[in-house]
Amino acid sequence: MNKLKVGIIGTGSISNEHIQAYLKNPRVELYAFCDINPDQLAMMAEKYGVTRTFTDYNEMLALPELDAVSVCTWNSVHAPATIAALNAGKNVLCEKPMALNAEQARQMKEAADKNGKLLMIGFVRRYGNDCKIMEDFVNSGYFGEIYYSKATYLRRNGNPGGWFGDKSRSGGGPLIDLGVHVIDLTRYLMGKPRPVSVYGATFQKLLNRPNIISDGKAYTSSTREEKVICDVEDLATAMIRYDNGSVLHFEASFSLNIKKDEGKIEFFGTKGGAKLDPDLEMYSEINNYMADVKLTNETSLSFDGLFAAEINHYVDCILDGVPCKSPAEDGITLMEILDAAYESARTGHEVILS
Ligand SMILES: NC(=O)c1ccc[n+]([C@@H]2O[C@H](COP(=O)([O-])OP(=O)(O)OC[C@H]3O[C@@H](n4cnc5c(N)ncnc54)[C@H](O)[C@@H]3O)[C@@H](O)[C@H]2O)c1
Repeated sequence: MNKLKVGIIGTGSISNEHIQAYLKNPRVELYAFCDINPDQLAMMAEKYGVTRTFTDYNEMLALPELDAVSVCTWNSVHAPATIAALNAGKNVLCEKPMALNAEQARQMKEAADKNGKLLMIGFVRRYGNDCKIMEDFVNSGYFGEIYYSKATYLRRNGNPGGWFGDKSRSGGGPLIDLGVHVIDLTRYLMGKPRPVSVYGATFQKLLNRPNIISDGKAYTSSTREEKVICDVEDLATAMIRYDNGSVLHFEASFSLNIKKDEGKIEFFGTKGGAKLDPDLEMYSEINNYMADVKLTNETSLSFDGLFAAEINHYVDCILDGVPCKSPAEDGITLMEILDAAYESARTGHEVILS
């Protein structure tokens, strides 16, 4: 069997999840690594026994036998690296957020279409079993018409450091970093309605809590730099109205004075509601009584298994032509929502999307 030869562009923290999933897939050969940081590259090459290493992705992409890549760089490199890979005839799994803005995202999809290659976006939360269970309930009509939803991803002290605080490389703070996950998950589960307007607000009050002595954060970048930059928002909130009349209320923070970190999505429908936080609880009327429903095999928001499911799907899409569950067009819509939320926060007015 000819194995799919895969390269990694950006061998930082999250690339470990991609690499470990590729290594477990018998139809994949982990073929080459690229990182602009030679120390990080050498450390990862040794850790995973990869011998083809590059500090320039164009050189790695010139390998004719390379079939596919994972783009795991900081956000500002997603668009140029993805477009270069697609133009070199490679398939691409690009980490979230798809790009810095919707314009870049559209250019990426154009490159995929022009070259007839797959561009999959790393909306990893779509691949969890919690998503699948919720999807089953939504599709069976259990909640009726879902007209309101909430997406919350709050960290008390959770700026990952490195480039995450540098707007020129990240595009923003918790809105673009964490918002992507929960806005996408709720929109996906609601049947991917089109956003028609966004009202957002962002705050830059606590920054990255530079004076706090912390013994551990929820997630940290592997990028270590002498000059710490933090010019991104630390709290973001938005109301997103969709074309089916439903509304999503969203909030996310890197730094916020709350008791503890919180991650949950909630749905409110005509027949029932649901909260996933990470346990799934549903609220409805049974035999004219108000009833709370819990599954006995409760699912968890834990990342265990999520990346393997995402990577295996990417491989199946390329090798078997399976339809992609997180295609480029969904990444573009997400970037349009994020652009509008930042624009609304800047102007103080609602942004209407065409
Ligand atoms: N799906 C998820 O749940 C999830 C979680 C964390 C991060 N991410 C995403 O993954 C991406 C990487 O995040 P991270 O936490 O691994 O960051 P990181 O700082 O740990 O690693 C990023 C790596 O990219 C490298 N890089 C930068 N520019 C490059 C270039 N031009 N060519 C090659 N390498 C380059 C850096 O040197 C660094 O090693 C981000 O887009 C982030 O949003 C996704």
